[in-house]
Amino acid sequence: MHRDPPSARPQVTEYYKLSEKPPSLRKRRTLIFEPAILNLNSSPVDETHLNKQAGSRRRGSAALPGPPFDKTHLKKPAHSQRPPPPWREEIRSVLISRARLARRVHALARQIEKDFAGGDLVIVALLNGTVVFLADLLRGLSLPLRLDFIGVSSYRDGAGSGGLIFTKELRLDVSGRDVLLVDDILDTGRTLSRVLAKLRPLQPRRLKICVLLDKPARRLEKIAADYVGFTIPDEFVVGYGLDYGEKYRNLPFVGLLHPRIAQGG
Ligand code: IMP
Ligand code: MG
Repeated sequence: MHRDPPSARPQVTEYYKLSEKPPSLRKRRTLIFEPAILNLNSSPVDETHLNKQAGSRRRGSAALPGPPFDKTHLKKPAHSQRPPPPWREEIRSVLISRARLARRVHALARQIEKDFAGGDLVIVALLNGTVVFLADLLRGLSLPLRLDFIGVSSYRDGAGSGGLIFTKELRLDVSGRDVLLVDDILDTGRTLSRVLAKLRPLQPRRLKICVLLDKPARRLEKIAADYVGFTIPDEFVVGYGLDYGEKYRNLPFVGLLHPRIAQGG
């Protein structure tokens, strides 16, 4: 089984923090380490929300030296990290754009396809945070599989991992089958540890974990995912299925909440 080393995973280590300064005065920080395993040519993605400058450079890429998809367009000026207008009041900045999500989910699907080919795969996804990621991942997987869900919810409906309750039990028989457990984010690890403790006694042939996001800084349980979309810093994120108080799941990108919202103001 191929398991990419942590160093090959996209690390969102730094990002533009939006200050009160106008974009032109903001200092550019980082960017984002895009690993070689991403095949940037293979997924046509809608990047129209990206700023005009980056867009025109891409459209004119025939004139640029180097490969058709050079990565310069990833180094966007700070203001391109601003969320689209409808979200600007609540979302402080875009951490992972829609285009990057699409590319990475596509790459994960290729890897999963390769690893589970010829097996008897059951995807077990945790509700509700996986819905958007899962829908994209599933459509990228060209192999026979079954799908089931486990419902798990924390007592509190805001941020953080409180006590857990199971709201839906697994229905499919996973014994002797390959199981890919899918979650939105691996944070403290408590949720996935509890779910693994439920699944292991059912004796799947293989049990692997796939998460869109990994926040290793907050880990309390000794647990690692086999497939990770992005490793992110210790920040509360929303969008692309992830919620705050059950809101923001429909954002097409992963973003950072305004502190004012997180503080309930
Ligand atoms: P864990 O049990 O601490 O690993 O947390 C897992 C669950 O907490 C995830 O499935 C999410 O529902 C939620 N969670 C953790 N961090 C975040 C975040 O940054 N944004 C939104 N939900 C989060
Ligand atoms: Mg959640």
